[in-house]
Amino acid sequence: MFEKLKQIEMEALTSLGQVVSNEDLEKWRIGNLSRNSAIMTIFSQMGSLSKEDRPLFGQQANIVKQTLEQAFAEKREKIKNEELERSLASEVLDVTLPGRPVRKGSYHPATISLRKILRILADMGFQTYTSPDVETDEINFQALNFPPHHPAREMQDSIYIEAEGREENPLLLRTHTSPGQIHAMRKFSSKDPLNPPSLRIALPGMCYRYEQITARSEVQFYQVEGIAVGKNITYGDLKGTLADFARRMFGESARVRFRAAYFPFTEPSAEMDVECFVCGGKGCPVCKNSGWLEILGSGMVHPVVMQNGGYDPEVYSGFAFGMGPQRQTMLLHKMNDIRYFWGNDIRFLEQF
Ligand code: PHE
Repeated sequence: MFEKLKQIEMEALTSLGQVVSNEDLEKWRIGNLSRNSAIMTIFSQMGSLSKEDRPLFGQQANIVKQTLEQAFAEKREKIKNEELERSLASEVLDVTLPGRPVRKGSYHPATISLRKILRILADMGFQTYTSPDVETDEINFQALNFPPHHPAREMQDSIYIEAEGREENPLLLRTHTSPGQIHAMRKFSSKDPLNPPSLRIALPGMCYRYEQITARSEVQFYQVEGIAVGKNITYGDLKGTLADFARRMFGESARVRFRAAYFPFTEPSAEMDVECFVCGGKGCPVCKNSGWLEILGSGMVHPVVMQNGGYDPEVYSGFAFGMGPQRQTMLLHKMNDIRYFWGNDIRFLEQF
């Protein structure tokens, strides 16, 4: 029996020496320490020993049992540490490896230009508002002094939305941001109809026209509208504001000129040109040899429009202007085709 005990211990420790994984260790535990293992069952065989030998054997058997348990615990710890080391070794961080490049996006060129314009106008006291893309004929045209069937409507070929019962005042995609003038004036004048507050507002937005898409015209494009209404606003304010805008937009030395124009909603009306920044006014293909680039339409708010906005034209006056940020981008970067803007060609967009 004592011999057998020695043998159990030796065999168990030898086989434990060969264990390298948790799986094997668990198998070893079941084989050597569970209720049916040799060391556990040997206690039940103690009856065959003499009375004197029994306590000694029990003591020895207990020592063997504890030795195996101890060896098991040590082995478990060892395997755990080895596993940890292995996993650390497999996760070494090589700080000399080149990183994966992070591709950085950028703003769309039309957005860049829009933001720059709005920033400048904000510095000049124009708050940014937005007005709807879907307009009524009444706001897009009639309130702006385009009577029904007036030939001036043909300046802006429109995309109408067919809807039953709206024949009188059909919906359309706004052809310009000028209807925002009416929304802005009505919003402000409704605050105090008898003594409406003065306003200075910028209105950016997408405009839509029923046009053949060519290098020079798109069916949709951005505009930024500006409107200032108050008690003593003169044509001099219009000229000063827009000339200042041009200097902030195109540089300190930017020269401008005003040419008489016609819009139903302004009177008098003028288009503003800026001296060609490509050739410095000498004449080049970009300015078509004129030395000047057309930048915006403007004018003094027409009394009818003023009235439609809720302001008494006898008391109030104002000026308005509308410009195309994309056109300015095209001029600045000598782009020769407006279709690049919505063409989604990454090679174009990446350049901004
Ligand atoms: N709405 C005009 C256009 O689209 C531009 C404009 C705005 C002219 C404001 C005068 C005043 O051409």
